[in-house]
Amino acid sequence: MHAPKISAIPSTNKNRAGVTKLNMAGLSASFGKFTHAVVRAIPASLVQGALRMSSGAEVDLTHARREHDQYVATLRHTLGLQVIELPADESLPDCVFVEDVVLVCGDTALITRPGAASRRKETEAMKEALKDLELNIEEMDDDSATLDGGDVLFTGREFFVGLSKRTNQRGAEILADTFKDYTVSTVPVLGGLHLKSFCSMAGPDLIVVSSSEPAQKALKIMQQMSDHGYESLTVPDDAAANCIYMNLPDKGHVLLHCAPEEYPESAKVFEQLKDYMLIPISNSEKTKVDGALTCCSVLINRKLKN
Ligand code: GLY
Repeated sequence: MHAPKISAIPSTNKNRAGVTKLNMAGLSASFGKFTHAVVRAIPASLVQGALRMSSGAEVDLTHARREHDQYVATLRHTLGLQVIELPADESLPDCVFVEDVVLVCGDTALITRPGAASRRKETEAMKEALKDLELNIEEMDDDSATLDGGDVLFTGREFFVGLSKRTNQRGAEILADTFKDYTVSTVPVLGGLHLKSFCSMAGPDLIVVSSSEPAQKALKIMQQMSDHGYESLTVPDDAAANCIYMNLPDKGHVLLHCAPEEYPESAKVFEQLKDYMLIPISNSEKTKVDGALTCCSVLINRKLKN
């Protein structure tokens, strides 16, 4: 078996022998550039059937769908992406969280093997939808591997993969083997569902991260693992640290981030980002079942041939 380039927590800052060509060259030129988004509608079964870390207030389905419609409209109308909208499947209560079932980078899509067995069939509709985008579709078909897209932070230079309740070492190895141009490093997720439950990219070389202890520990490890000095932007709320960054023609830096009504202190932090198109997005209902902003779309950069 080919040994993938993968690093775990280093004992020193000089962690990688296998630094790749792209890592040396710097930030991927296409970082943040997207043309398409795949989303999926919310099934009514989400209310009672979606997985959740803790019990609490019930999801208001009508409100959840309204928020999701607004999210999709932002991608389609405000940002001009071509949106591929998959129908809900009532037998798959978590199916709106499309990010977990595929990783797309460059011309390649890796269909994952989600950590929760109840979510594995979500991959089927995604695989079908991606066929029209002329991607090389790979599948994680090793029964010992698990990986949720929510555990994968792509910085444009490298991948960080959270080892969590949903993602294991074998899943990270298959990701490294699939995207060979990039270095892949693993990071333990010490709280929350996924790595991106408390951090995400807010721009080129800018990681937004919550001030919580698990988040700060993960950030420290990522900084130790990397040869690159990322800057960080700290917000007080875990859920607010999950944002969507894009760099779009005619719009420049775009950030979809938490609504001030939900996380006022975190929202103030984003307001400091000058030269950004800042778009607050309400996500109060999907948050109840651990669904953050990135979870609800797969963003893809494709210039399709006619
Ligand atoms: N409810 C999202 C998940 O647990 O995967």
